Amino acid sequence: MNQAALHRLMASKRWKKSENSPEDLFQLRLSTNLSLISSLFFSLYPKEKNELFFYQLLNRMEELFSNRSKELKSLDLERLQDGNWYQSERLVGMQLYVDRFNKNIKGLHEKLTYFDELGVNFLHLMPITTRPSGENDGGYAVNSYYEIDSKYGTKKEFSAFTKQARKKNMVLMLDFVVNHTSDEFEWAKKAKTGDEKYQNYYYTYPDRQIPDEFEKTMPEIFPESAPGSFTYDKAMGKWVMTCFNTYQWDLNYTNPEVFIEMLANLVRLANMGVDVIRFDALAFLWKKIGTDSQNLPEAHQLISLFRMCLQVIAPGVILLAEAIVSPRNIIKYFGEGPLEGNECEVAYNASLMALLWNSIATKKTSLLHKSLQEITTKPADGTWINYIRCHDDIGLGYDDDFIRAMGWSPSEHRNFLLDYYSRGLDWSPAKGLMFMYNPKNGDGRITGSAASLLGLEEALEQEDTRKIDQSISKILMLHGIILSYGGIPLIYAGDEIGTLNDYSFTKDSDHKNDSRWVNRPMQDWKTIEKLPTTENHTSQIFKGLKKMIQRRKKLSVFADKRPAIIHPSPNEHVFLFERNDGKSKVWVISNFDEHTQFLHVSWLYSIGMSPEDSLVNLISGEKVGFKNNLLELEAYAHVWLGSTQL
Ligand code: GLC
Repeated sequence: MNQAALHRLMASKRWKKSENSPEDLFQLRLSTNLSLISSLFFSLYPKEKNELFFYQLLNRMEELFSNRSKELKSLDLERLQDGNWYQSERLVGMQLYVDRFNKNIKGLHEKLTYFDELGVNFLHLMPITTRPSGENDGGYAVNSYYEIDSKYGTKKEFSAFTKQARKKNMVLMLDFVVNHTSDEFEWAKKAKTGDEKYQNYYYTYPDRQIPDEFEKTMPEIFPESAPGSFTYDKAMGKWVMTCFNTYQWDLNYTNPEVFIEMLANLVRLANMGVDVIRFDALAFLWKKIGTDSQNLPEAHQLISLFRMCLQVIAPGVILLAEAIVSPRNIIKYFGEGPLEGNECEVAYNASLMALLWNSIATKKTSLLHKSLQEITTKPADGTWINYIRCHDDIGLGYDDDFIRAMGWSPSEHRNFLLDYYSRGLDWSPAKGLMFMYNPKNGDGRITGSAASLLGLEEALEQEDTRKIDQSISKILMLHGIILSYGGIPLIYAGDEIGTLNDYSFTKDSDHKNDSRWVNRPMQDWKTIEKLPTTENHTSQIFKGLKKMIQRRKKLSVFADKRPAIIHPSPNEHVFLFERNDGKSKVWVISNFDEHTQFLHVSWLYSIGMSPEDSLVNLISGEKVGFKNNLLELEAYAHVWLGSTQL
């Protein structure tokens, strides 16, 4: 039982006794979490020196709770009663840049019906707070954690939007850029003027001695545009740690004041009416010389400390781990050992995402099976965000041991994937770009829109209808997998109409050094307006996706109560998993090959399917036939097989 379950239990007892004052319940939650909070706090900040900060933290928590609105406090309690609401099959998400979607918050508000039309009821809005003009990493360099940038609108408009969204039962997710601020943030500005208190809010050094020590083992995140992990700031006359871009200063969490101030910023963000907070780049939160300064045990303690405090103040708000790290490391962000279920409720399923792209390129599913089967299952209270594309690159974060088990060399295999997606391999239909190639070690990542990576751009250029159809099937197949796998599917805005790469970033001086902008297009409303009256690739993708979304929401077996069961298929091109909630079963089958593939009935029996029962493809509603004891799967076919009763 995690802490959230304890709070639910205690609150329900109180409800029975009608002692439901939010203040009482706050005290109750505080006493339930207090021992965990103190042990986490003192393990990061030794008691001898930091006891006063601990008392400061407790006072601050009371103050932060008193600042939360009445309305949000009662929503917190409703959410608490709902249990693990984030595991529902009824949630379907979309991620978007507010300005690129429809200009600003007002524009977004006007488009709420578009989400209804597609069936989206969970929105990830990327940063809307103030940021430096010029380069700002799409707002991930923050000047404030809660002041809305005037380009997006006003607080009032945002609050009107959240109210309306809440009325529609829309879940809202915003980013908390927890690892770094911009170099224009008020603390950075004070540090630049020589204020030592604020220099200690960051990792600042007078010379290269310590930076050199760190850099011996720290990997470079943006080797092309921001090599190294430190930047010399002339005004300050010091080196400052900048793991990402030179204008993003890493916060120094070894300083307890930084933790307390950032908790306050986190709550201010939550108080804007946000349901899910995306902890950005959280793997980087703790740095240590001699390590790669990622995924360190202290980072986990720190995240859990944030979690335990936020849960006391705003128990309805949950956390998403943006940890795009190796499969074994991602799982740890749900919390391990005594912290199980007490770290983040949700994590990006970056492993599934990267493995799907591997299967598209290789047309084989063996690495996908092996990796998914061997990754430890996540805790029962957690869930995934399943996605195929987002605003970032696709990292090739596969487990080397699993690649070797396929008989492939990890470096050659990654090189092949880079060739396939971003170096124009002659037989590849993909049109992507390389992101941050590092000639020192041959590492590179991939960027591009889902549709362009899946061959639609090339197929349209060649006016090849067969290729266009195949590309549409691939787009629908990958989305079908994220809609059925277990977790919250997150569609990247534009992918629902097969938006192609946007090469205009090369002409923008603020974007040209970052090829991820090729997949940050403006939402194409002209095309969307024409959807009801057009019959082409855009409408086929939109309608296909909409149908699957509608079906997902009706199938309670898709709630993330039990993990998908992966059945390693005897056909190397076919990916098959089973969703089973103890009452009903659905088999999700995908053919990653461009040729028709078959599965023999005897194998289907062996995994518990009874083909003689009337099975239907739950997406199309059509009955599934078996010819010569074989299930036939056309190129890039994707089916959800289940009984007609479902
Ligand atoms: C996250 C964001 C990415 C950003 C980075 C640094 O990974 O998704 O866009 O560049 O954090 O803030």
